[in-house]
Amino acid sequence: MISCNWKLNLNKSEFLAEYWQSKALLIRGAISEFEPPVSSHELAGMALEEQVESRIVEYRDNVWQVHYGPFHSRAFDRDQPWTLLVQAVDHYLPAVAELRKLIDFIPEWRIDDIMVSYAVEGGSVGPHFDNYDVFLLQGSGERLWQLGKFCDDTTALLQHDELRILDTFDATEEHLLHCGDILYVPAGMAHWGIAQTECTTFSIGFRAPRVSDMVSRWADHLLETLKSDAFYRDIKRAPVTRPGEIQQADLDRAAAQLRAAIDTTDGRNVWFGELVTEPHYALLQDEVDAAHTLAALKGDPKTAELAPTAKLAWQHDAKCILVFVNGESQKFDSSVLPSLLILCDNRHLTVTQMKTALGDNATVALLGYLAERGVICIA
Ligand code: SIN
Ligand code: CO
Repeated sequence: MISCNWKLNLNKSEFLAEYWQSKALLIRGAISEFEPPVSSHELAGMALEEQVESRIVEYRDNVWQVHYGPFHSRAFDRDQPWTLLVQAVDHYLPAVAELRKLIDFIPEWRIDDIMVSYAVEGGSVGPHFDNYDVFLLQGSGERLWQLGKFCDDTTALLQHDELRILDTFDATEEHLLHCGDILYVPAGMAHWGIAQTECTTFSIGFRAPRVSDMVSRWADHLLETLKSDAFYRDIKRAPVTRPGEIQQADLDRAAAQLRAAIDTTDGRNVWFGELVTEPHYALLQDEVDAAHTLAALKGDPKTAELAPTAKLAWQHDAKCILVFVNGESQKFDSSVLPSLLILCDNRHLTVTQMKTALGDNATVALLGYLAERGVICIA
């Protein structure tokens, strides 16, 4: 098991109170003696692979251009500054996945993935904003980051079919990042990073569901659970003198009846966990063989390890524990909690932890549930 023992030099409570989702923060020497867990060569090698999502961005002939992987090694022979971006590197390299633990003071289900970029001197993806919060950790080399104002759907973008580059960018601050420095950029803030030397950047990105998606999921769930024989009621209403009018009292009644329907709906919070654990990436082909894992669980298993793409979360539900994995959910007895906590923290059970887990029927059922979904490897 890889353990890098990186520590984040940050006052977490102060960060959450002052900066998270509202202000940018430069964390100089965020990780002391940081050694980037992936080299530019390894990154280039990953971008040759079919299943890895990668792209190259360059500014050529006065236009921003993007090319999508998988690439041939010839693609890295370019005469203009360029940047290679490789998505979800944490799914492939356990040492990169370790970086997720640096941000252990924010729920794991908020983290999306770790993108790693490599740029030659002058390389950049242009001024832009992301809808996600991101911790930009400088690997090798140096990059100059400029920050601008907060943007939204009304902010002017350059005409481009694939890239969302800002039409204008006015820098309000700039920071030169060296290895081990982190720049936290809140969702929506304009930023522009230009490689000053050949360099790598690790983007620890956070996911947040769109409010429109939350409403849609919540409404879907509500519709599934609502009684179809319940109707609008206006018992004991006052007589009307203007028969065409819809009165405020009618609207208030409707609203009160909606609220009552929501309050009596069973398991009304399941949709949230299902939404936030939905995977953005398909299971990796060579990750887990469900049949093999289930057979191993019935034998004499020694250890368990979550697949890198598994999104696991849980919540209390009455006297039970609702477990969410990759967009699905199931209730378990609360005796699963000790093993579940370990799986969420460390993503694996050691021999001793596995022995304890197997001593509890509900935990065995949980492991079976995860195995059937192909998100845990048991051996
Ligand atoms: C990069 O690593 O070059 C771009 C990351 C970002 O701006 O989000
Ligand atoms: Co960005």
